Amino acid sequence: MNKIQINNITLAYERFGVGKPLMLIHGFPLDHTIWNDTASLLKNNFDLILPDLRGFGQSITVETPYTMSDMADDLAALLDHLKVDKVALAGHSMGGYVALAFAQKYPQRVSGLGLIASQAVADSPEGKAKRYQTAADVAQTGVCAVAEAMTPKLSADARVQALVRVLIEKQTQSAVVGALKAMAERQDLHSHLSSVTFPVVLIHGDADVLISIERAQEIGTALPSAQLIKLQGAGHMPMIEFPTETADGLRLLAS
Ligand code: MLT
Repeated sequence: MNKIQINNITLAYERFGVGKPLMLIHGFPLDHTIWNDTASLLKNNFDLILPDLRGFGQSITVETPYTMSDMADDLAALLDHLKVDKVALAGHSMGGYVALAFAQKYPQRVSGLGLIASQAVADSPEGKAKRYQTAADVAQTGVCAVAEAMTPKLSADARVQALVRVLIEKQTQSAVVGALKAMAERQDLHSHLSSVTFPVVLIHGDADVLISIERAQEIGTALPSAQLIKLQGAGHMPMIEFPTETADGLRLLAS
């Protein structure tokens, strides 16, 4: 992977393909490889940029607390490095939270937004408390605590579960704890999203038990120009479970 030093961290990324720039942002606690199948379907449509968010995959982070906004700044610094002014962003779950933070902070740099199995609302007080509890568990017992609890909820497909579990177990304790705290403290961007002018595509499985499809439907109600692609039978990992349909949805951001 390519690596750059920015914002006091090492950020790793892949870049390939031809066309309009599209950044594919992975979710928690994963890395850019979740996009492998979808990216190979999109490489003739887009100049694809696939970062590993700070701490994940081959990116390295600091132990101090950071926010979704800091993660968005990492992506802005990566785009500066690549001399890309404007980009379409497609974020999976937590990657969607980062994409939303980026869109709020750098709206002039966004040509379109794809939210895949994601949401714009913040955590409830109970959800936030649960994140801190999970962060404490991970700090004490390691990433296996999250791998164990999350894997069955990501997909009903045993092949996808096996693949994703291996990926989660590769991630570091500090990345998982840092991201859990950043997610707990994220802003509610639902009202911000309802005022955006760039194209928005929502790709969501109706069998997602981690983030219900209702969260995408709420965005669709607030922003009627958003296109909701409902994937029947898909869980929380549409880019692995339904790569063709996910790629078709993201091509809507090519124009
Ligand atoms: C993710 O897949 O990125 C996470 O499940 C998001 C979350 O926990 O809110």
